[in-house]
Amino acid sequence: MEVSPLKYKIHFEPDLEKFVFSGIERIELLIKKSVKKIRLHSSEIEILSVEVVQGKVAQKGKVVYREKEEEVELVFEKNIKTGKATLKLTFTGILNDKMRGFYRSKYAHAGKEYHMGVTQFESTDARRAFPSFDEPSQKAVFEVSFKVPKDRTVISNTVESNVLEHAGGYKTVSFAPSPKMSSYLLAFIIGHFEFISKKTKDGTLVRVFVTPGKKKQAEFALSVAVQTLEFYTEYFKIKYPLPTSDLIAIPDFAAGAMENWGAVTYRESAVLVDPVNSSTHNKQWVALVIAHELAHQWFGNLVTMDWWTHLWLNEGFASYIEYLAVNKMFPKWSIWTQFVYMDHGRALELDGLKNTHPIEVEVNHPAEISEIFDEVSYSKGASVIRMLAEYLGEEKFRDGLRLYLKKHSYSNAKTEDLWSALEKVSKKPVKKIMQNWTKQAGYPLITISKNKNKLKLSQKRFFSSVASQKTKSNVSWMVPISFISEEKIEENKYLLNKAVDFLPSSNGWIKANKNETSFIRIKYSPDLLAKLTNPIQQKDKKLSEQDRFGIIRDAFVLSEAGYSSSEDALSLATAYINDESYIVWSELATEIGKLKSILFGTEVYPEFQKYIVVLFSEIAKKVGWKAKDNEDHSTSLLRSIALGVLGRNGDEETLEKVFELYKNDLSGKEKLSPDLKSMVYSLVAENSGLKEYELFTKMYKKATFEEERDRILRALCSFKDKKLLKRTLELSFSKEARSQDAAKTVIMVWGNPYGREVAWEFVQSKWKYIAEKYGGGHLYNRFVKPAANFTSEKKAKEVEAFFKKHDTTGLERSIAQATEQIRSNAAWLKRDYKKISEFLSKKPS
Ligand code: BES
Ligand code: ZN
Repeated sequence: MEVSPLKYKIHFEPDLEKFVFSGIERIELLIKKSVKKIRLHSSEIEILSVEVVQGKVAQKGKVVYREKEEEVELVFEKNIKTGKATLKLTFTGILNDKMRGFYRSKYAHAGKEYHMGVTQFESTDARRAFPSFDEPSQKAVFEVSFKVPKDRTVISNTVESNVLEHAGGYKTVSFAPSPKMSSYLLAFIIGHFEFISKKTKDGTLVRVFVTPGKKKQAEFALSVAVQTLEFYTEYFKIKYPLPTSDLIAIPDFAAGAMENWGAVTYRESAVLVDPVNSSTHNKQWVALVIAHELAHQWFGNLVTMDWWTHLWLNEGFASYIEYLAVNKMFPKWSIWTQFVYMDHGRALELDGLKNTHPIEVEVNHPAEISEIFDEVSYSKGASVIRMLAEYLGEEKFRDGLRLYLKKHSYSNAKTEDLWSALEKVSKKPVKKIMQNWTKQAGYPLITISKNKNKLKLSQKRFFSSVASQKTKSNVSWMVPISFISEEKIEENKYLLNKAVDFLPSSNGWIKANKNETSFIRIKYSPDLLAKLTNPIQQKDKKLSEQDRFGIIRDAFVLSEAGYSSSEDALSLATAYINDESYIVWSELATEIGKLKSILFGTEVYPEFQKYIVVLFSEIAKKVGWKAKDNEDHSTSLLRSIALGVLGRNGDEETLEKVFELYKNDLSGKEKLSPDLKSMVYSLVAENSGLKEYELFTKMYKKATFEEERDRILRALCSFKDKKLLKRTLELSFSKEARSQDAAKTVIMVWGNPYGREVAWEFVQSKWKYIAEKYGGGHLYNRFVKPAANFTSEKKAKEVEAFFKKHDTTGLERSIAQATEQIRSNAAWLKRDYKKISEFLSKKPS
């Protein structure tokens, strides 16, 4: 870099009624090579004046706009010499409605409608708020001030340093300089806010800001944030460097939350917990999100990826360590047990496609950067970190992190820097083990069989669809792998690093990848798989929940991939009837849901539903409808899964109860437990028509609590009548809904088999609007990915044909993934339909 920023001083004057803003900016620059031109990132900004000052010499500059590159070139007549210089700019911009850059968000206050100004800069949208060196490695100090109406609160990364009142109802609020940081971490929010606050042990003031009237719903977040900050301070052995740590609930927000240093912004449903109305599940979600964003204050903000290729260092790491923090705060939640269902399993799924990508992937264009905020960067990243942490041991792992953070504080790092630190502390060949996991797409399928008295292990890249298995692949991984067997637990990790290897083994059953800590799938030979039935039924209580979970997950996925038949998986599933594990049943619900989705509309569908009801009956009976006093966290989560599956598959008794609870809730006779609400609403919707639809619509418009609005929206997506589903889609694109929720609606309607066609037609008819509003942003590919629900070659072709006619920048990989999945579904159905049908006719029902 010939020119780099040291410090930005920016004064903003937003007009919260006309939705424009103006700015006065001074950037202190370090000129490393004499230049006549300076390039800055800038998009949808009009620059009014440019001047560069060096010592006593000032010269004006001209602006050349390169809108496509999101850059401006400032051209000067005379050379700017090496050393320091100050660049002075004035500019104007738009307070847009696209939830990126500097944007507006609507809220109500004292019976009036207002707009707040709010920012979302990651990945590349600071350039929409001010001309800047908008790349993560261009760290600088930011000092900002704002002229705003007197009755508004201004929040930014640091503390207020000065407030100056003007005549005419305005004030100027100035903030203290930020730490040296990347541009994507700057944030400012201007609106009517209330807050609650509490100090951490170290004296950091933690505040939760909400729009007026919502303070009661901020208490849980405040408590979690304080504890989490204290935990990380101790864990990383580095103090949180700012005097304040704010959480701000924003009514319109594209992502779930954003880790702006000292001013983390959240979607309301990701931070607000109502003491009466929130479900256990949402409370858990809020805790995880806060723990995730606060992890970034160290991993991401203090030490930042050098370039977006290393995005996973931020996101994979935060997605891992959030569990550690939540586990510390809520040990009874057994949150680590859920990791394999929430992250590990999801990552294995996406990464089983040929059209996945390596964790470390070359990206350039902003739209390409947006596209990698996916399960590979997040969940696979988290999973390979967990694999490594297990391999190195907790302490070595933590010490390595401490070293890494200390060494790269206020600076940037690459993946290899993390490996070096861990290697130094553990004295193990971390880089050698890890490089294929991050530089190579996919992961190995480990095939295990008995060969005389040896265990034969072989590895090959796993592909979830038969068609992709033709792809040549001779990569291999260094696989840390442990075993649990009838006789003993092999705690010591064995490192498989060849294509084929042999291990000594005994005669009883054996489960590989104890607790599912490595990022692999296992294919057992039929005799080894058969032996697992007993331990699955927990005759000797040796297999953990994660182990039981892993066996059935792989059994289903291997049938999807054609390595075995669905019949094998369905019959193995029946061994789980007496299981009580939340993750096991969640996984069964998910896997069976996939089969159900491809079988929808075929002759065996009703029989398949009967099989599902039988499978889930025991567990549904066990959890029952009423929560017991002091019951386990996971039982509270399991209830709506088990009962929901029964209801969705037409179990009469369950549906009767659902309607009874729903009516009692409406009439006020008996309040519905928040843990059952979503399930009850959706099942009522699924089994009702226009009358109930209109009632739900009314409820939706009236509700002000986001979690409740989400539940009602889900119900509105669960009807069977296509006309009603179309109305839901239209509602979600109208002023009645927030544009943050449109993609979610499309996903849910597309995921409803009755809504597949409706959603696809709707998306096509609205494509121009979608591209204009969401193009290049965080939610864009969500309008494409759910095409994966289709199950025929015809549909795959249709999807391809449609997108051939449109600009697909930032969508290419998502389209390829969706069509690969459609073809996989089609092949699966064709291959296994008869076998499933035979299996079902054998079942007594
Ligand atoms: N850094 C992200 C926010 C983000 C996401 C910015 C996508 C730009 C594009 C933040 O830390 C994050 O990961 N948020 C998650 C929630 C988290 C708990 C997994 C999100 O928004 O989905
Ligand atoms: Zn994150």
